[in-house]
Amino acid sequence: GPSEDLAPLSPLAVPAARAAGCPFDPAPGVERARREEPVTRATLWDGSTCWLVTRHQDVREVLGDPRFSADAARPGFPFLTAGGRELATSKPTFIRQDDPEHARLRRMLTADFMVKKMEAMRPEVQRLADDLLDRMTAGRNAADLVAEFALPLPSLVICLLLGVPYDDHEFFQDRSRLLLSLRSTAEEVRTAQADLQRYLSRLAAAKQREPDDGIVSRLVARGELDFEEIASMGRLLLIAGHETTANMTALSTLALLRNPGQLARLREDPSLIKGAVEELLRYLTIVHNGLPRVATEDVTLGGRTIRAGEGVLCTLNSANRDEGVFPGGDALDVGRDARRHVAFGFGVHQCLGQPLARVELQIAVETLLRRLPDLRLDIPFEDVPFRHDMGIYGVHALPVAW
Ligand code: HEM
Repeated sequence: GPSEDLAPLSPLAVPAARAAGCPFDPAPGVERARREEPVTRATLWDGSTCWLVTRHQDVREVLGDPRFSADAARPGFPFLTAGGRELATSKPTFIRQDDPEHARLRRMLTADFMVKKMEAMRPEVQRLADDLLDRMTAGRNAADLVAEFALPLPSLVICLLLGVPYDDHEFFQDRSRLLLSLRSTAEEVRTAQADLQRYLSRLAAAKQREPDDGIVSRLVARGELDFEEIASMGRLLLIAGHETTANMTALSTLALLRNPGQLARLREDPSLIKGAVEELLRYLTIVHNGLPRVATEDVTLGGRTIRAGEGVLCTLNSANRDEGVFPGGDALDVGRDARRHVAFGFGVHQCLGQPLARVELQIAVETLLRRLPDLRLDIPFEDVPFRHDMGIYGVHALPVAW
């Protein structure tokens, strides 16, 4: 039959490459899996196999089901690289642990990232955004938006919240890049982890001598965790707190510049900003390689039986293009109701920092568009350095002019 002419769908080697010229779209192999075989086999870097779960409904089922574990120490847990395995297993934090331990640790932070508390940060975030743009535009009409705006803004904010000196940003941004690079060896990851761990555990000790009202200091004052545990938690917050929002800011800017109709709509009606940010989160889905889990029991999903001990990758970017949930989802539409997106994950591990990310993204995008009405890309689109080599997608640099 005609289907014999097609290359076999399964197993798909992951991370699968995006198509040339379509840097905002998920890899064609993953898109095809969602349409033809939504729960499919995948092969990993070390030759092992796992399941790829590509539809919105199935992704939510896995992430909401306690029979799928986020504990990277369990046999069968899927890793994308040797470095990724080192990152998830050497000094585990609650993002790679299960309840009740996960819940016990996460609960210590829920008050710090509550919507109300983050909304109260708006004036401060706005002031930081304006300061950065003042500096970026002073006497110039071109700059790298990543280096001068998208990266420093969330870095400044998470430093403020944690009580980490922003003066050390080159140190922690450099280590963070190594931890999230798909090219890093296990050894490079181990060293970068150890550097950050040492730095944050010293910081915790310093906060004991000289307390302030940052999160690290308050975790020390609680007395329930030792410095090593506080350092692990601090590492997670510091990395998750700046890399993600930075990449969303830069990639959102680029996506809007590539969709001038949508950009014009948002400029004409800034009240669209909240919905537009949700749509950008959906459309861009920067956590792009699939959230890893491992089955602890046999589970039937999409007509397939996933056996206990088998790994699963939930591809959020594919789920967020599922046409059954987001009709015409391959197009960016700032007026769309995108609230059902899973860009922040789903279930007990759903992003703790999402109220902060929303405030930062709404302010960053709105302020940028308002203050730089002539904003444009300053290099050919083909030359934009996309982060195909990173666990968090985005652009390494974004030369813009105004
Ligand atoms: C978890 C995405 C910003 C802190 C997650 C997860 C996703 C995600 C997909 C789930 C991981 C999993 O289930 O395996 C994003 C995106 C962001 C963002 C797209 C920005 C646009 C932030 C910020 C913080 C943060 C600003 C601030 C500290 C965390 C933490 C977890 C998490 C601590 C672990 C939660 C848990 O395991 O219970 N994030 N995140 N994130 N995120 Fe974010």
